Amino acid sequence: MCGIVGYIGYREAYPIVIKGLQRLEYRGYDSAGIALYDGTNIKLSKTKGKVSDLKNKLEDEISTSGSLGIGHTRWATHGVPNDVNSHPHYSNSGDLVIIHNGIIENYDALKKELSKRGYTFKSDTDTEVLINLIEDVKKNEDTKLGKAVQIALNQVVGAYAIAVFDKNKPNEIVVARLGSPLAIGIGEDEFFIASDASPFIEYTKNAIYLEDEEMAIIRRNKGVKVRKIKDDALVDPYMQELQLNLEQIEKGGFDHFMLKEIYEQPEAIRDTFRGRLLTNQAIIKMAGVEDNMKKFLAADRIIIVACGTSWHAGLVAEYIFEDLARIPVEVEYASEFRYRNPVITGNDIVIAISQSGETADTLAAIKLAKSKGAFVFGVCNVVGSSIARETNAGAYTHAGPEIGVASTKAFTTQITVLSLMALRLARAKGTITSSEFRHHLIELETIPAKVEEALKSDGYVQTIADIYKHATNFLYLGRGFNFPVALEGALKLKEISYIHAEGYPAAEMKHGPIALIDEQMPVVVIATKKGHYEKVVSNIQEIKSRKGKIIGIVTKGDKSVKELADHVIEVPETLECFSPLLTTIPLQLLSYHIAVMLDKNVDQPRNLAKSVTVE
Ligand code: AGP
Ligand code: GLU
Repeated sequence: MCGIVGYIGYREAYPIVIKGLQRLEYRGYDSAGIALYDGTNIKLSKTKGKVSDLKNKLEDEISTSGSLGIGHTRWATHGVPNDVNSHPHYSNSGDLVIIHNGIIENYDALKKELSKRGYTFKSDTDTEVLINLIEDVKKNEDTKLGKAVQIALNQVVGAYAIAVFDKNKPNEIVVARLGSPLAIGIGEDEFFIASDASPFIEYTKNAIYLEDEEMAIIRRNKGVKVRKIKDDALVDPYMQELQLNLEQIEKGGFDHFMLKEIYEQPEAIRDTFRGRLLTNQAIIKMAGVEDNMKKFLAADRIIIVACGTSWHAGLVAEYIFEDLARIPVEVEYASEFRYRNPVITGNDIVIAISQSGETADTLAAIKLAKSKGAFVFGVCNVVGSSIARETNAGAYTHAGPEIGVASTKAFTTQITVLSLMALRLARAKGTITSSEFRHHLIELETIPAKVEEALKSDGYVQTIADIYKHATNFLYLGRGFNFPVALEGALKLKEISYIHAEGYPAAEMKHGPIALIDEQMPVVVIATKKGHYEKVVSNIQEIKSRKGKIIGIVTKGDKSVKELADHVIEVPETLECFSPLLTTIPLQLLSYHIAVMLDKNVDQPRNLAKSVTVE
């Protein structure tokens, strides 16, 4: 799961590729490399570390010229992150150069075969095996690069987005995709290649997204030819006009993408509503639901599959769907679901939730559910992503690009989409009255403004962060709709500050975690007015008696918790089912500020990557 960029045209490739890599660093950042070709010499440079390290390295060297270039920012799967394993990789002859995102699963067998034929390997990567396989085919079959890539890929098992060029063909780049994304930007006499469109957005708005099992030969001054890898059939690709603008993908004045994305939530939720929440007419319009209403109404149950933060959004949805639409819901980790031979029937609806739309486990769970006859509905953020395409129908969250590895606006917009769905289905099933429905719509409409208000706690949250930043453990407690928020708050803290944290249903505390509580333990308790308030207040009493430090997330104007807690952070009042959209805000801010104070890499925490396209 890495970022790939390429350019072929009339400009210097270097600045385009290097800037593109920086924009794609969210996809992986353990090493980076670039190959530039001026028609005579290939200049290849790569290094362990970030794109900025590569940039520094290159700027110390003299020539970085060439109007053909490819670059890679890596998230290692085969071979440790080091200079040698970084991409691009040469073939043995030094003629072919490759960048690759994905995994060649049968690389070991191929490597043994190639070794027998005299090939040697400098790196431990699967990628270097692939480029030598292409070279071997090219020699044996005496064919051009495109054909050799095609034949080689037909021998490969795994996933890839690749870009390859040949020293003997200075006007050509060959790209292919299976399972990893690849977009081609079409300019005038110039072409761009990237894992998503952000590297070329300021050069062209026209893009082709390769489908799985497609490859393209991109020729300078000639254009792009797309073919099916399996049967060589020519494809007439669909050219998309991109809506994304550059400002959307840059930090917009914030220190980190994560903070920018936290602050974008009111607008992101409004974007999620757009065209769907029509409060004045008292209707919710969602094409993906409308078109499949019969299936939804006939469904015996909904199974939600997702990973990480998206799984937490699924847990919130479980409460909302069951409460409003009275449909039984099960929420599953996609990684478990895919391997445990689940009982699924044609009457089940599977909802797959994924920000990136590329998460391998979620994708596999979808394929499994489909193979057993279930109807699969996707809730994705990235338009045109693999999950969005693999599902039978779906609804985008429209949160805009989320770059920070720690998911924030994706979470709240996922809950928003799922709330709209639950309400729409509740109305269709008659499980809520028309006046209740209307009341919910009116309340939902106020959420973006209430998120804005919740964001005003930022200053006070910073004060709290400063007090507890050196704690080594945190406990997060919530009940009902806010139990998943406790899980999400703990995950956020773990991911970016590396402080151990656990989320628990508040009432479960007495069954074990209470043993952890002493005067060193900060406990964040979500205690909103309508959510089993009295019960949670009793749980707070229990913590207090054991001298734990209490940070309460409370409804504005709260009195009881204020008397007990060491600190309280207020959020505006709303219907309990929508409260996760507000209570999650201070928890995001708390983890953010602690991580900043501890000088951690907030946007790119260690060991993580934004989209997990491997198992
Ligand atoms: C979120 O903060 C995490 N980085 C991670 O848990 C993430 O939510 C998970 O990998 C799922 O990703 P997806 O939504 O893109 O499928
Ligand atoms: N499998 C390749 C490697 O380990 C590519 C990984 C990636 O997608 O970054 O180098």
